[in-house]
Amino acid sequence: MRTTSTLSEPAVDLAADHPGASDPEYRARRDAIAEVGVAYRPGDPIPDVVYAPEEDALWALVSGELAAKHERYAVREYLEAAARLDLPRDRVPQLREVSGGLDALTGFRMRPVPGLVPTREFYGSLADRTFCSTQYVRHHSVPLYTPEPDVVHELVGHANMLASPSFADLYQLAGEASQRAETDAAHEFFSRVFWFSFEFGVAWEAGELRTYGAGLLSSFGELDAFRRAEIRDFDIVAMGTTPYDITVYQPLLFAGRSMTHVVDELGSFLSSYDDDRYLELVR
Ligand SMILES: [Fe+2]
Repeated sequence: MRTTSTLSEPAVDLAADHPGASDPEYRARRDAIAEVGVAYRPGDPIPDVVYAPEEDALWALVSGELAAKHERYAVREYLEAAARLDLPRDRVPQLREVSGGLDALTGFRMRPVPGLVPTREFYGSLADRTFCSTQYVRHHSVPLYTPEPDVVHELVGHANMLASPSFADLYQLAGEASQRAETDAAHEFFSRVFWFSFEFGVAWEAGELRTYGAGLLSSFGELDAFRRAEIRDFDIVAMGTTPYDITVYQPLLFAGRSMTHVVDELGSFLSSYDDDRYLELVR
């Protein structure tokens, strides 16, 4: 991502079909918010972003709609963790306060970043119990959709899950596993497991399929659709070797028998994963 801004050229690249691509006001807003992430140095206090009333209203709408769906579709561990973190519903939370709340609950902290960061940097920071988070709000023309991880995805999806002590530990283990996966092939396998669990993982609870994945938890449309996906049993090798398309509703999901099963399986995979283990798994 380019990080310098001139009057004629926006700093944040948006694809031509991005809902905000031809909205100059939105692009200027994205650039201004990105500057906070660019200027941030780990250890500094996180500066607040002054959100516009429309941005707060968008957060209120989306987080309220998602919370209602979570009652039906999110795993109990998520609902309990979200209740403990207790994100504000009426305005966009500041990363400073989310970081403080998480630190007190599970020792995780948030780090503002301007946009997508290189994958090894994103995963690697989890080893230090640090989550790299964007702060911008999706475009107002399609409030229930975003083509990229905005503040709703980061906080409703990931931060709420990071308020669970067992999941915070799993995120850290994921960061450590990613650092031991030095070859590109081993890292790709790890990223796919991460995708099919931390982002799109599901588990059975009292005979119902529910989700603990940030991608599903933050997606208004996909929450209503994921039970119609093809559901396979939780299987690390299948997850690590199955490709995925980020632009569509996931047609295939891997379900744990319970959240205890998910935590045990992910924990044992992540704590022993490295280049050698990768070769054993795909042999
Ligand atoms: Fe994510």
